[in-house]
Amino acid sequence: MPGQPFPISGPIPPEDIVDREDFLDSLETRLADGQSVVLAGPRRTGKTSLAHEVLRRLGKRGFYTGAVDLFRVTDRRELAFAVIDACLQNRTGLRKTAATLQERLKTLAGSAKLAVKLHDVEFDFRYLGEEPDEKELLHYALDLPERLAQADGRSMVVVFDEFQDAGTVADERIYKLMRSYFQNHRKVSYLFLGSKEGLMKRLFSRESEAFFRFAVILPLPPIPVDAWTAYISGKFAQAGLSVNEERVPEIVRLTGGHPQDTMLLCAELYRIGGIGSGRLSLDAVRMAYEQTMVLLGPMFDEMLFELAPRADQRKVLKRIARGEAVYSGGGRAAEIKRALDALGSKALIEKNGRGAYRFLEPLFRDHVLRVLD
Ligand SMILES: Nc1ncnc2c1ncn2[C@@H]1O[C@H](COP(=O)(O)OP(=O)(O)OP(=O)(O)O)[C@@H](O)[C@H]1O
Ligand SMILES: [Mg+2]
Repeated sequence: MPGQPFPISGPIPPEDIVDREDFLDSLETRLADGQSVVLAGPRRTGKTSLAHEVLRRLGKRGFYTGAVDLFRVTDRRELAFAVIDACLQNRTGLRKTAATLQERLKTLAGSAKLAVKLHDVEFDFRYLGEEPDEKELLHYALDLPERLAQADGRSMVVVFDEFQDAGTVADERIYKLMRSYFQNHRKVSYLFLGSKEGLMKRLFSRESEAFFRFAVILPLPPIPVDAWTAYISGKFAQAGLSVNEERVPEIVRLTGGHPQDTMLLCAELYRIGGIGSGRLSLDAVRMAYEQTMVLLGPMFDEMLFELAPRADQRKVLKRIARGEAVYSGGGRAAEIKRALDALGSKALIEKNGRGAYRFLEPLFRDHVLRVLD
């Protein structure tokens, strides 16, 4: 959608990050002070965008920064190279340092130049061979952030995105190995992001887990209606469209202020020319809403499909969607409780007072009402 003013996917530029200034401040301060942080929250709520922005800010202050996305990594070797790349990028400016090195190794001059840049972190060129010793490579990689920071007299911040996937990329032992290195790092702090909230919380707060108490867990607060209203009106105004501001909260009411859902609805509103006349009509909002539901439908279906083997979870979800008391209408209390816990750890619902629950994503609730009723 060229020229469409609302960013609807992936990490977004700083000017489109609504209402996270205080949060970013606190995140930046903690990381700069050497504290490691966990940011665990539901899908598409802005974790990666915030991490990118905080790295950008710290980079401007002279910190070394690096980011590793575990979602893109499929085995231990790739994990090692992703960490190495994230580190060496600070020296070479090359996003894929290892691959570039591999390429340049073919020409003596090219490799010699890079070797000079790297020499004091003892980058062993054997690691670039066809089959490096995987174990040695991983150990080297996991210790590299500190060695690099020490060598260059800098502090460093490293982000691990979708951190909960590390256990599937390698196996659960990887956490122990990581911690054994990270806990000795004096000049590096870590930011761990994860969309599987339950798993993330377990990793960092259960005593038996390797990362127990390694980092503080920061919850992502909801974005207030006022902040959304100001942003949305401002964006339309920038596009030369003035909206009657009193209607804008209606958009946020429908989406519950869920970051990506709200952006999607606004993008649809823009696309259908919902405010062509300079006034935002409820009909236009309704149309944009329907269109957003169509766009999100396949993803919501997939979320339900994942629950399919658990009839009890679907039953409980339906009750919550309808606004019914979860424990009424049959089923064993223990089973219902288990289903509630599971839905909660998947970040689909949250407790909303005694015995009351609600959906974290109102559009998902609407979808559930349409397909499960
Ligand atoms: N603070 C915000 N203000 C406005 N929009 C936001 C904000 N945070 C996220 N979004 C919207 O959500 C989308 C997803 O953001 P991002 O990829 O950073 O989230 P995420 O939590 O990392 O998602 P995932 O769970 O898929 O990794 C953005 O493209 C944007 O549309
Ligand atoms: Mg993300």
